[in-house]
Amino acid sequence: MSIIPTHRPRRNRKSQVIRDLVQETNLSVHDFIYPLFVIDGQNKEIEVKSMPGIHRYSPDRLIDEIGRCVELGIKSFAPFPGLEDAVKDRLARESANPNGLYLRTVADIKRQFPEVVLMTDVAMDPYSSDGHDGVVDAESGEILNDATLEVLGQMALAQARAGADVIAPSDMMDGRVAWIREVLDKNGFSSVSIMSYTAKYASAFYGPFRDALDSAPKKGDKKTYQMNPANRREALRELVLDEQEGADMVMVKPALSYLDIIREVRNNTTLPVTAYNVSGEYAMVKAAAQQGWVDGEKTMMEVLLSIKRAGADAILTYFAKEAAEVLRRG
Ligand code: PBG
Repeated sequence: MSIIPTHRPRRNRKSQVIRDLVQETNLSVHDFIYPLFVIDGQNKEIEVKSMPGIHRYSPDRLIDEIGRCVELGIKSFAPFPGLEDAVKDRLARESANPNGLYLRTVADIKRQFPEVVLMTDVAMDPYSSDGHDGVVDAESGEILNDATLEVLGQMALAQARAGADVIAPSDMMDGRVAWIREVLDKNGFSSVSIMSYTAKYASAFYGPFRDALDSAPKKGDKKTYQMNPANRREALRELVLDEQEGADMVMVKPALSYLDIIREVRNNTTLPVTAYNVSGEYAMVKAAAQQGWVDGEKTMMEVLLSIKRAGADAILTYFAKEAAEVLRRG
């Protein structure tokens, strides 16, 4: 046996031009969906402590921020509301209030930027005095699935009326995609899409998001509705159901510890697959970069590329703006 290698994969890496030529996955600004936090008031821009570089904006400032993003080529946004306790209640009634902060803001964004795609969040937690994604039974503490569907349907309808392009249920109640689809269709919103949080895990990586919205559960955890991080087949079961129920896009969340799930879902559906690069994943990179322990920019781009390589068509990410700047620089 010769000691001289016959096969030399390094030949395909010998220059930047060749590396670019054989590159299998590319990131584009079109892949990004930018999550945004809106709070009441005027002229407010408050950084989320656990998410350096990410702010909670009053509607006026949010519009400015969206303008800067659009300028960079980001055209899809996923707003979330940060609400005062005073408007929260057991049934999340504020979520269907067309004059409430969230729906006013959604309508305003669409007025100012008709071309952007707005993906609105359907789940009770930002509006719930219990901090859960579903209705909590006052006595047993159980999260009531079917009672929640009623609330989610009204929330989705109100969002469609406010101008949402895509309804994104993040609650993990059973049957909610079919329920929302029917409510939308019956009310003349058959062209409003549904992007389902198909495989959403009960993850520790949501901590900074719950800080940002002050939406942590008051009691207990979300394990009776969000998925067990140990499970892979269960994601495929959720996928089958969401397809049958009429989802237009499916999502895996979080992304980084779930790249295998993204791949699994990719290999088992013809629908577009999105992945949510969540708050804790963002915070980890930022924290390590601030310590000088990793190169923040390179790590960010590698994270995003890996999510795409795993099979995601689009990525919800707090890095969207920064990554768009990097892509623009080339
Ligand atoms: C809840 C919701 C959560 C996130 C998006 N929607 C948190 C949770 O399930 O408690 C988290 C997103 C992130 O961490 O970036 N409906």
